Amino acid sequence: TTNHLRHVESMASFPSGAGHISHLNAIILGESLASQEDDLVYPSHDFSRHALIPSPHKYLEMYKRSIEDPAGFWSDIALSEFYWKQRWGDQVYSENLDVNKGNIKIEWFKGGITNICYNCLDRNIDAGLGGKIALYWESNEPGFDANLTYSQLLHRVCQLANYLKSIGVRKGDAVVIYLPMLLELPITMLACARIGAVHSVVFAGFSSDSLAQRIVDCKPKVVITCNAVKRGPKTIHLKDIVDAALVESAKDGVSIDVCLTYENQSALKRESTKWQEGRDMWWQDVVPKYPTTCEVEWVDAEDPLFLLYTSGSTGKPKGVLHTTGGYMVYTATTFKYAFDYKESDIYWCTADCGWITGHSYVTYGPMLNGATVVLYEGAPNYPDSGRCWDIVDKYKVTIFYTAPTLVRSLMRDGDEYVTRYSRKSLRVLGSVGEPINPSAWRWFFNLVGGSSCPISDTWWQTETGGFMITPLPGAWPQKPGSATFPFFGVQPVIVDEKGNEIDGECSGYLCVKGSWPGAFRTLYGDHERYETTYFRPFPGYYFTGDGCSRDKDGYHWLTGRVDDVINVSGHRIGTAEVESALVSHPQCAEAAVVGVEHEVKGQGIYAFVTIVEGVSYSEELRKSLILAVRNQIGAFAAPDKIHWAPSLPKTRSGKIMRRILRKIASRQLDELGDTSTLAEPGVVDQLIALADR
Ligand code: PRX
Repeated sequence: TTNHLRHVESMASFPSGAGHISHLNAIILGESLASQEDDLVYPSHDFSRHALIPSPHKYLEMYKRSIEDPAGFWSDIALSEFYWKQRWGDQVYSENLDVNKGNIKIEWFKGGITNICYNCLDRNIDAGLGGKIALYWESNEPGFDANLTYSQLLHRVCQLANYLKSIGVRKGDAVVIYLPMLLELPITMLACARIGAVHSVVFAGFSSDSLAQRIVDCKPKVVITCNAVKRGPKTIHLKDIVDAALVESAKDGVSIDVCLTYENQSALKRESTKWQEGRDMWWQDVVPKYPTTCEVEWVDAEDPLFLLYTSGSTGKPKGVLHTTGGYMVYTATTFKYAFDYKESDIYWCTADCGWITGHSYVTYGPMLNGATVVLYEGAPNYPDSGRCWDIVDKYKVTIFYTAPTLVRSLMRDGDEYVTRYSRKSLRVLGSVGEPINPSAWRWFFNLVGGSSCPISDTWWQTETGGFMITPLPGAWPQKPGSATFPFFGVQPVIVDEKGNEIDGECSGYLCVKGSWPGAFRTLYGDHERYETTYFRPFPGYYFTGDGCSRDKDGYHWLTGRVDDVINVSGHRIGTAEVESALVSHPQCAEAAVVGVEHEVKGQGIYAFVTIVEGVSYSEELRKSLILAVRNQIGAFAAPDKIHWAPSLPKTRSGKIMRRILRKIASRQLDELGDTSTLAEPGVVDQLIALADR
């Protein structure tokens, strides 16, 4: 024990801004934490014994190395677990995260030559996984399904890759993908990666305007879609949306030569699909004709892998750019440890590949680990609220990863939908997208997981590529609602508004010190905005846009966005985007949008709208304003509430005081605070009077 103690003591003196270290030592030493015992949920002894990271001690040992010697830590993993055609040069990574020292730059494994598709498929097949199921596909309609082994998946990917090459798609070209959760979605992502093309998946819930905006920004060689999809009882005509987007993008000078369209027969027959001869191609008519093998395009670790647009605090979406090598190593490693992945696992993540979660933890992370992944096409509550557990039982899912909004909505629908199914295959649960409130956490843990499955509440972002703060199941006690401790190589810091790091029990702005392999490298075509948004607010750090507190035991609690971004059902929406959609309505003079607490969605969208003179309020107008947002962004961004506002509270310099609007929206009327700086204090009473009209 003396040895053990000395070891622990040396870690306790390990500084590196890691406030959680000494607390974990307390757990190792068996000292009681400052928290009440009933706030802590311990993993079972049995779970920990078999876990990849079975103790805080093991975590600390690895974490310490990852911070003290990032180059050694990550290059050991990169070399032992991946295929590199050629090793990187002398430097494993190089970075400048300080705007005062020149341009922001992050590079990992530069000069290393590899291919992520090869690492997902060929490498695993060579290791004997060819006959293993790579993807189970479950249709919206119960009873319809399909699957692909790793070898079959490789064949499909190669056929599409060959087709793309035949129409002139080359390394570095952009490909826009507008597909629902069909097998063809991961197939397309992997095919692009195989030939070095840069995919940009646009979530198939975005409107034609949003799709057009993204097409204009990245100018793809081809757009890949399907004719229609069924979601629950509804049929959505995706091809019509693409057609409209291509008309729009052509007006901005970006015309597309090829629109490859998958015929999704269960939703719509080709005879009923609108068609533009010459431009539109049926996937089934061309792709299967191509060979099932395709040479890999070997790329540099720092060559771009994909672009994914996300919302910021201004109206224009940001094209987050991820490169190949670091992203590959990071998503695979985070997947493995945060879900305690074992070869026999069956993994289901309910996220759509249109979001980062679907990129990193439906496609790349799991496939790099040779995992079996369940892909579900439909709505989680169709035909009823038991569908998720039906799927869990059908495929014997062991790892189930979802979003708090789904947990809350299923919780509201009643326990009997859950208890009707066995769920006994489950062993690890996961949560992502927004803070999970302790009551939803407990329901998920106790009811869904039968009190025996640790929950990995993974905090991360489109920008971070992979998990940043996350439990490692089995390693340490959890606290419902806390994302716990940082992943290997991640140094979270909490700063005050002046940018000073604060330690101990504290709360403030969450930043990250140093780079990690999965970090995004730039915003496409706008490196300046990258620097301004993320690295200028607190020089020397990456600023996450989130608030965070650290408790007396060193656990991290994410408290939500501190910028003008709202998180609706785990989807990031910029208030400015919604405002700009509203004011595009001819009868809207001005709009101000704030987030407000919502029982199921986490946050709802609350819009204060001033209409033009001479127009009167009506239910019809309300509907058409909401429609404007649906049409410009997508149905998921539709405001939950329109609050008529004869005028908005502004400072004398004309700035809208959102603080006051947030209080009115959440009806915290006794907390309006100081209204004396308003140009016209009377507007507040006027707004309150109209609150429930
Ligand atoms: O506010 C945080 C919240 O989602 C934001 C990132 O959104 P996006 O880039 O769309 O990626 C979502 C999936 C990674 C973060 O800034 N967020 C994400 N996960 C969590 C979270 N907030 C609290 N707890 C989480 N586990």
